[in-house]
Amino acid sequence: MPHTPTTTALRGCLLSFKGNPFTCPPEEALWVEEDGLLIMQNGKITHCGPYTQTHQFLPANCPVTHYPDSLISAGFIDTHVHYPQLPVIASWGDELLAWLQHYVFPAESRFADKTFASATAKAFLTELLRNGTTTAAVYCTVHSHSVDAFFEESARLGTRMIAGKVLMDRNAPTALQDTAQQGYADSAALIARWHGNGRQLYAVTPRFALTSTPEQLELAGTLFNSQPGLFMQTHLSETQQECAEVKRLFPNATSYLDVYDKAGLVGPRALFGHGIHLHEQDFQHCHTTGCMLAHCPTSNLFLGSGLFKLFDAKGPHRPVRVGLGTDVGAGTSLSLLATMGEAYKVSALANGPKLHALQAFWLATAGAAQSLHLSHKIGTLAVGMEADLCVLNPKATPLLAQRSQSIADTLFALMILGDDRCIEATWVNGHCVYQQPHKGL
Ligand code: GUN
Ligand code: ZN
Repeated sequence: MPHTPTTTALRGCLLSFKGNPFTCPPEEALWVEEDGLLIMQNGKITHCGPYTQTHQFLPANCPVTHYPDSLISAGFIDTHVHYPQLPVIASWGDELLAWLQHYVFPAESRFADKTFASATAKAFLTELLRNGTTTAAVYCTVHSHSVDAFFEESARLGTRMIAGKVLMDRNAPTALQDTAQQGYADSAALIARWHGNGRQLYAVTPRFALTSTPEQLELAGTLFNSQPGLFMQTHLSETQQECAEVKRLFPNATSYLDVYDKAGLVGPRALFGHGIHLHEQDFQHCHTTGCMLAHCPTSNLFLGSGLFKLFDAKGPHRPVRVGLGTDVGAGTSLSLLATMGEAYKVSALANGPKLHALQAFWLATAGAAQSLHLSHKIGTLAVGMEADLCVLNPKATPLLAQRSQSIADTLFALMILGDDRCIEATWVNGHCVYQQPHKGL
């Protein structure tokens, strides 16, 4: 995208995290600058501080966009989502395995057509930006060109995205299957084309243990370990029925996670969707290896899959890396505000601590970046970080407008009552890519 000028600036209330609200009192983890200034050059933050002390660094003629009534945060990070499932969001009635057969596989078959893939990728990325999400870990389909379609649009927008071609060589319609060898060769070509190309990052993407043979998982592991910085994404322990099937197909594995471990798929930058029915040993293993679990509450409630044990996972004696995922199409919203709200309700059902607003916002920004091993690039507002921002309007609706006490209370109201209506603007790579259209009277 041609962008001018190269230096831009934003003024308003800046919010970011300087600590982890799961390991210190949540308020101590937050950094707030009520009248702050962010200066951005060539896609990076060059200055970030109080307006009175920072405006002297503004280059002459640098435009300053002022958001006097908004909160400026790092862009949201969605750690688990399927772009080809946008057309089947909100499909009635089934649990996971039947839902895949009835809705998802037919929807993904349409991506044999590259034009359709490009149009859906464009619609999907537009929706992400409308929801303040600037980075996501995204499943494409089995078709290589579905990945090209996605990354081409992401490159045009300048977003930092993680994505990959789905690998499936069994238990799926023939039209959606590759083979272990073909999947390997196609993924290797996509890695060469896209991984580290601008802001794009590749994730080796075996869908889950039920749709890959041990041979395909093995080759996925070879790919994952073939280059530094590559990601791997798959699903883990989402429903009881799926777990029983995995036990039947992999009788020699000591656990579901062990199926992936035996194939070399567990380690830093391995992203596992769900992880609902895990045991203490699995959490211990996740902690030791540096992999990440994507908590997808709207999806888990929609499919009736179960309740993720967030506070078990984050236990301070062996904290597991966790991010939030919308998991659309099983998830019911692309909004991370809505997803935080559902994560709160899942915690409320667990009879333990309730998710604090600052913990939820951390999970959607700095915590996700840490979990992805990308905290040196995204997730916080600080000098040297990539300039991806989400501007929130805390008074976007009449119900929200009546609430403005502490910052934690405002953020809690936003995550319980808010959605895309609260996203005032989204900035990517130092430039405004979305501005909420203002309704007239
Ligand atoms: N498990 C395997 N594939 C999928 C998928 O597409 N969505 C969800 N939620 N779970 C899965
Ligand atoms: Zn998923």
